[in-house]
Amino acid sequence: MRRRMIVGNWKMHGLRRDLQEIDQVAAYAENRCPAIDVALCVPATLIGEAVRTVAGRPLVMGGQVCHPQDSGAHTGDISAAMLADLGARLVIVGHSERRLAHGETSEVVLRQAMAALRHGLLPIICVGESDAQRRAGGYLAVISEQVAQSIPREFGENAFAIAYEPVWAIGTGQVATPSQIAEVHGHIRSLLHEIGGDAGAMTPILYGGSVSPANAGSIFDVPDVDGALVGGASLKAASFTAISEVALERAT
Ligand code: PGA
Repeated sequence: MRRRMIVGNWKMHGLRRDLQEIDQVAAYAENRCPAIDVALCVPATLIGEAVRTVAGRPLVMGGQVCHPQDSGAHTGDISAAMLADLGARLVIVGHSERRLAHGETSEVVLRQAMAALRHGLLPIICVGESDAQRRAGGYLAVISEQVAQSIPREFGENAFAIAYEPVWAIGTGQVATPSQIAEVHGHIRSLLHEIGGDAGAMTPILYGGSVSPANAGSIFDVPDVDGALVGGASLKAASFTAISEVALERAT
């Protein structure tokens, strides 16, 4: 059985008063003892307090990016060592908002993922095509290139997870259809298998882009969907735990 994961991405949202949402998600995770990994990637400013809020309950805290180096003269950046030091256990790398707004190439994303691995963090490596790339028809080639260049050459089981996030589906309410998701997830699965053999067959592939409690069921029913990376709907405990519950129903 592949690991199933529901990961929230708070992006640049969240002040200390929002720790109560994290507390509610942690209470849910404790009650349901989910057979899936439930995680929240909050702003780095909140990770330390969030880890204390969660206090031993089965909710994993993560970061949203890390620098490829462990330390150095990089004003404003945060290293994987620092995230791990706060108690984070995973980190998103290669999110399209970082690739586009910060010019992070797949080569940089790979170095970020390697930094995460050095510090015991699970990297969630994001890939996804733009609207223009989908319309032009070459989107599977775009995905192939991003996957091949962003993931380690050699890897073991559960070394990382991939998130397929079509850029046009992020924050737009325009979720990809089950057949669009099935096509790309199947493609990523065969690439992972080619590169990593058995470990590639066991690597979780998450879908991200406008996931909500209403559409989660039809997404999780798609073959090779092992969970979700959730943006907007992760900000409130009610919607995030509702999505987790849909995943949990399918995992048990
Ligand atoms: P969304 O964001 O769920 O708000 O579309 C997903 C993401 O960017 O990870």
